Amino acid sequence: MAIIRRVALLLQDVVDGGASVGFHAPLSAGTARQYWEGVRTIVEDNVFLWVAEANGVIVGSVQLEFSRKKNANHRAEIQKMLVSRKYREQGVASQLMEAAEIFAAENGRTLLVLDTQVGSKAESIYLHWGWIPVGQIPRYATSSDGTLHATAYFYKQL
Ligand SMILES: CC(C)(COP(=O)(O)OP(=O)(O)OC[C@H]1O[C@@H](n2cnc3c(N)ncnc32)[C@H](O)[C@@H]1OP(=O)(O)O)[C@@H](O)C(=O)NCCC(=O)NCCS
Repeated sequence: MAIIRRVALLLQDVVDGGASVGFHAPLSAGTARQYWEGVRTIVEDNVFLWVAEANGVIVGSVQLEFSRKKNANHRAEIQKMLVSRKYREQGVASQLMEAAEIFAAENGRTLLVLDTQVGSKAESIYLHWGWIPVGQIPRYATSSDGTLHATAYFYKQL
């Protein structure tokens, strides 16, 4: 199966499972593929993508966006950490994050930032990994069911 279709299935699974990652459920295959086609055009320009594969299926992904600002060429943002429901709690996200952090450090990025839904499991995991919370913005985005939620911001120095 083509890569776009495979990562689209991952995104659909995560959104339909209730995660707030920029889409509402149910996520159509067409919208999911359109999103990844957009990512394809920027990957390896200033966006880098890791995928985790198990039994021929893409079960996780994460993106790292390098800031292009002249005063921020030490900074990058972690985006769209996704693990399919069936493969959670097996260390997939840990491996993806480790790969992204090593790559960032090897390429001179010393400050990472990310944001996530307040109260989500992801928020607890970032705290567990030692990311520093810097605050929350109430009613920042809608979750997959369309309700507004607060967003928490984190950073990590490498
Ligand atoms: C958040 C998510 C990516 C985690 O993926 P995962 O593969 O299940 O995570 P892992 O099994 O790799 O666990 C990550 C770490 O968190 C720890 N952990 C697990 N559950 C935890 C919890 N409830 N609270 C704190 N830490 C927890 C694990 O022990 C592991 O620690 P380690 O790296 O020290 O071994 C996954 O649940 C997901 O895709 N959620 C929906 C999408 C989402 O919200 N993404 C984040 C967008 S910013």
